[in-house]
Amino acid sequence: MEKHWWQEVVVYQIYPRSFKDSNGDGIGDLRGIIEKLDYLHTLGIGAIWLSPVYKSPNDDNGYDISDYEDIMDEFGTMADMEELIAEADKRGIKIVMDLVVNHTSDEHHWFIESRKGKDNPYRDYYVWANPAEDGGAPTELQSVFLGSAWKYDEGSGQYFLHLFSQRQPDLNWENGKVRQEVYDMMNFWIDKGVGGFRMDVIDLIGKIPLEGITSNGPKLHEYLQEMNKATFGDKDLLTVGETWGATPEIAKLYSNPARHELSMVFQFEHSLLDNEPGKEKWDLKPLDVSELKAVLSKWQTELGEEGWNSLFWNNHDLPRIVSRWGNDKDYRVRSAKAFAILLHMMKGTPYIYQGEELGLTNTPVSSIEELDDIESINMYHDRIARGFSVESIMESLNAKGRDNARRPIPWSAEANGGFTTGTPWLALKPNYKEINVEAELQNPDSVFHTYRKLIQLRKDHPIVVWGDYELLETSSNVFAYYRTLGEERWLTVVNLSNFEEKISVDARFNRVLVTNTVEEVTDLHAYTLSPWQAFVVELSGN
Ligand code: GLC
Ligand code: CA
Repeated sequence: MEKHWWQEVVVYQIYPRSFKDSNGDGIGDLRGIIEKLDYLHTLGIGAIWLSPVYKSPNDDNGYDISDYEDIMDEFGTMADMEELIAEADKRGIKIVMDLVVNHTSDEHHWFIESRKGKDNPYRDYYVWANPAEDGGAPTELQSVFLGSAWKYDEGSGQYFLHLFSQRQPDLNWENGKVRQEVYDMMNFWIDKGVGGFRMDVIDLIGKIPLEGITSNGPKLHEYLQEMNKATFGDKDLLTVGETWGATPEIAKLYSNPARHELSMVFQFEHSLLDNEPGKEKWDLKPLDVSELKAVLSKWQTELGEEGWNSLFWNNHDLPRIVSRWGNDKDYRVRSAKAFAILLHMMKGTPYIYQGEELGLTNTPVSSIEELDDIESINMYHDRIARGFSVESIMESLNAKGRDNARRPIPWSAEANGGFTTGTPWLALKPNYKEINVEAELQNPDSVFHTYRKLIQLRKDHPIVVWGDYELLETSSNVFAYYRTLGEERWLTVVNLSNFEEKISVDARFNRVLVTNTVEEVTDLHAYTLSPWQAFVVELSGN
């Protein structure tokens, strides 16, 4: 397999609204990101995935775009954006744009035109359908944000499709003009020097809604091959698709280099392990570590030369890993480092979501008024109407709600964590006086310094990028694996529990590369791991 830069870097995701406010309006912005590029350079990342910064009325915080070639007023100007790309480039950091093209905002001029009537030239840019015989919605299809996915339009007597909010109408990818508009827009950004695209819910673009087909539609891969050819195909860009239902077989369709589609996808199989199978993400179930081992190991081994993995615990849609599967009370620092070590020694491109490198935790709240996210608010009203208790709803939202990841970043112990001099758009978690960037930078034993070290190991040792993966048999709460490249062999061992665990490995080691405890790692033939202990060792010849 030909080698690419995006296989060797670590990517950092920025949710701009919550990263750093530069002008005191309480909302993070592009100049705030520019201010913090040196911090990201110190961490050692090679690319930033920037959540949407385009013009948007913010019904879904920028995932509803009204102009793809302009910047959201609150975030700055196109000149700021160009400066961000240039300043990042000076530090060896590429900017990966969030490409949200399954849908637009209802304020996009294409939709404003489309809505004007059946004869409008933009009508077929979106998915319109006649009412069912009884006058109701064309099909039973449900929106991801709950309720019917069809919205009635009085003016023309037809329904339009919205797989997300009513203000996010779905584009009609069957229309070649729509596809060409998207490719032109992508080229506009490529010409500005961006390093790639993260493709929002890309598995939905081949949908045939009237037949009930949403993800993995028949023309999905044809469209991606067409896109590849029309835009980034002859450039070495990072392209990563968000694909909730991907199996390794499906992931190979996207990322097999011979097929000329994408660099990699985000698969979510591991992220679905803590809800009741077949139910909603809110229907909680404890994680079974042996399932996590099985799923991640399957992905590590099954893509082979026909694909490339992304590695992540967190993003702007998911709860904080240390609260979700770690222990954010007695072992916050240790379990945060344990998850970092576990993921960053695997094969694939690691993604860090802002604040993960500080070991930030979830932010439980007691009432829905304290939340902003449209998905959480819709879920609340839906479940109230279905007779769920407020307590059970808040329990689910505190465990899985998206605002857990969207609280502003605490930069220092100053008021509002130094995120803003004004009033933050969403309150910070009150513990920012203890957990903040400044404190993490100063403390050599912080979560930040473990992330920094892991990134450096990846830069210094090709085995981390290219080595083969092999799971080691251990007790169920211990996750241990080998990486092997030529004569070199590394062993990663992680105790994912609050208890001591014993391991027995028939091997000796030369040196410890990284660890999250002060305890010395001794004879591996009979070693007792302390709670959440994690380390990586280089094994000796025999
Ligand atoms: C993706 C985004 C999410 C957004 C949705 C609709 O899942 O990650 O934040 O709400 O798509 O664009
Ligand atoms: Ca601002």
